[in-house]
Amino acid sequence: MREYLTFDDVAIAPGLATVEPSEVELTTKASKNVELYLPFLSSPMDTVTEWRMAASLARLGALGVIHRNMSAESQALQVKMVKSAPQSPWLEVLKAKEDEPLDSLLFRMEEAGIGAAIVFSSPPTIVVSSAADQEFWFHKASAFLSLLREHKPLPLLDEEGRLRVGAAISPFDERRAKLLDGAGADVLVLDVAHAHNVNVLSSVARIAKEVRADVVVGNLGSRSGVLDAVARVENIAGLRMGIGSGSICSTAEVTGAFAPTLTAVMEARKALEELGVHGKIPIIADGGMRGAGDVAKALIAGASAAMLGRVFAGAEEAPGAKIRVGSRVYKQYRGMASRGAMERRFAEDRYARPSKSIEEGVEGLVPYRGSVVAILAELVSGLKAALGYAGAHSIESAWRGELVRVTAAAKEEQRPHDILL
Ligand code: XMP
Repeated sequence: MREYLTFDDVAIAPGLATVEPSEVELTTKASKNVELYLPFLSSPMDTVTEWRMAASLARLGALGVIHRNMSAESQALQVKMVKSAPQSPWLEVLKAKEDEPLDSLLFRMEEAGIGAAIVFSSPPTIVVSSAADQEFWFHKASAFLSLLREHKPLPLLDEEGRLRVGAAISPFDERRAKLLDGAGADVLVLDVAHAHNVNVLSSVARIAKEVRADVVVGNLGSRSGVLDAVARVENIAGLRMGIGSGSICSTAEVTGAFAPTLTAVMEARKALEELGVHGKIPIIADGGMRGAGDVAKALIAGASAAMLGRVFAGAEEAPGAKIRVGSRVYKQYRGMASRGAMERRFAEDRYARPSKSIEEGVEGLVPYRGSVVAILAELVSGLKAALGYAGAHSIESAWRGELVRVTAAAKEEQRPHDILL
């Protein structure tokens, strides 16, 4: 029998670093023709990505993929909202010179509906307007400042200077794919649990020929799945790898089927290397990554970017209300194959057709984490540090890094131990 490996089974072997961690370059690709400045995509889930999340991510160099739990028209409208949103990452906070009078700064903040400004004095000062939610804006501005220090954020723009955005598609809804394409989506991400299916692949192959946008195929979990997908979908522009690893997934529990994201990425890499196209068809690792360390392992395994659900679900910019439980604040997070998400799909999209009648996801809560800017800032510094240990100066060079298997004893030693915490 073959064996599956997942993130906790491996560690990043230290390698010779030629640059400092802060100089690690994170530019990569989401799909053949769509570059990313930060290797993160947000999952197309109805508690993770609508236009607000997608616009905020694109302003900082990452990509949001709008979920499809709505009518095709509404989803196309969401794409258009990202396309018409202001591009500047400075929309997140305002920047100001040291000599700008406070009154003028507060006036500008109010006019732009922005609660915080960074004044470029040394050290930089954060000004929060009294009207806004002080704690939130202070947090967001400090996160933005640390992102500026770590990595100069650049917006992801299309040829017309608009923010880039992805959108989820069903293989059996050509009309939706065409509407999204017409609305300007840059990447259409196939959104099925098991894309290694002849009907799915032949339908998506037809769609890929009809649209201008890049089409990413998934989810897949094996080398043979990737070989079949590449053989059948002529202009395949990317692969979405991992089955059942997501934090809200119950696929493995319900069905016994599973292809952990790390193994799925290694399988995809094997297939693409056999075909001589690793790096040309980007691999997106999808599901189960808890933070920068897991993302770094997925990249070293051969991925170009990581798709995160849970990590972004706690952001202010994720759809859904904040829920207070005692003194803590949470946001709802649910699998797209959970009962609640499936009920919404069939209520809102009259073209949606069930291919299975079983729930493969759960519904829950994740801690509220403030702005996605803070989440990205933490991911970026963690990822640069991780790649620094691997001796990588870029994502392509990370592919030459080494992952090693850890023993049970090593797993114990990896965590803080033998002290009173
Ligand atoms: P994380 O771990 O980042 O995973 O929360 C997000 C990914 O999980 C997948 N997904 C599901 N998988 N049942 C599943 O088996 C579901 O209901 C479900 N909803 C999402 C998806 O690939 C997402 O990007």
